[in-house]
Amino acid sequence: MHASSALMALTGLVAAGVALAQSGLTVATPPAFVQCQPINLSWSGGTAPYFPRITTPGASGTTVVQFDQTSSTSQVWTVNQAVGSQFTIAVTDSTGFTQYSSTTNPVVAGSSSSCVGQSSSSGSLFAFCS
Ligand SMILES: *[C@@H]1O[C@H](CO)[C@@H](O)[C@H](O)[C@H]1NC(C)=O
Repeated sequence: MHASSALMALTGLVAAGVALAQSGLTVATPPAFVQCQPINLSWSGGTAPYFPRITTPGASGTTVVQFDQTSSTSQVWTVNQAVGSQFTIAVTDSTGFTQYSSTTNPVVAGSSSSCVGQSSSSGSLFAFCS
């Protein structure tokens, strides 16, 4: 009993280590989010194409913006969210591995708030160009 549960724990650790080593995907956490200003989200490693999205904070957050599939390692987004909002940036690569940024700093007010509630040109579900 003891030996087999130790073996299972070890097997789990080894599997997790292999998954990390294979993907190498890291997602940057931009330092500042200004309302209605574009921000450049970026990541590295992993295997293209990528499926980036923005969620509410945490690894099981609700999707706020789902971007189109991309082979690029960056995505520009116009911050069309309320002042004070915080996010996690999640990127899934073509192997199905998902990596998360840290929780972002709260959105701060910019010179305009007219974009809020509008779909971002590069983040719309209905945009065919990005
Ligand atoms: C976004 O950041 C990435 C990585 O730093 C860079 O390669 C890319 O040129 C940037 N894109 C824009 C539009 O600034």
